[in-house]
Amino acid sequence: MNQLVKAFILGLLGLTFSGTALAAEVAYPKGYRDWHHVKSMVIQPGHPLENPFGGIHHVYANKKAVQGLKTGNYPDGAVIVFDLLKYNEGGNALQEGERKLIGVMQRDAKRFKDTGGWGFEGFAGNSKTERLTKDGGQSCFACHKPEEKSQYVFSKLRD
Ligand code: HEC
Repeated sequence: MNQLVKAFILGLLGLTFSGTALAAEVAYPKGYRDWHHVKSMVIQPGHPLENPFGGIHHVYANKKAVQGLKTGNYPDGAVIVFDLLKYNEGGNALQEGERKLIGVMQRDAKRFKDTGGWGFEGFAGNSKTERLTKDGGQSCFACHKPEEKSQYVFSKLRD
């Protein structure tokens, strides 16, 4: 085989491997606004989660995550999104403001075994690429840990 062809094939292999390494990251949850809406909550000043979760948030679950919410057992591929917006107060109403961040939990029992089988990631504002966790999701997981009996998920399904 000629040297150039060899170099090309090695290059391709390299790309494949770096692609695999990247895949260990939590993916941006494209299209999550079309998923199942689980619940919403408004966090006001003075609440223990005010910083950084003050605002109005909506929780969305993809099909596999809905299965998990129903059975208590989340299959790999389940994704839950915490969509956090500022709110504007006026006229005795709270209206959605701009997006602060989204929090994502992506289930993969093996790949994310150090954080309870969930990959945790935040994306700033409306960005699909600006990631917020610097510790592999450990600090997110630490706060979700008390929910061990529901596989670290706080939210519950309702009719
Ligand atoms: C200080 C505690 C705390 C920290 C830190 C925290 N969370 Fe949460 N998270 C919560 C609570 C409480 C809820 C439930 C909110 C509700 O009931 O609407 C929640 C809900 C969620 C949900 C919806 C699924 C569920 O468990 O109800 C996602 C997704 C999520 N968090 C992702 C993250 C990510 C990603 C991080 C880190 C960037 C993070 N969380 C850090 C407390 C925390």
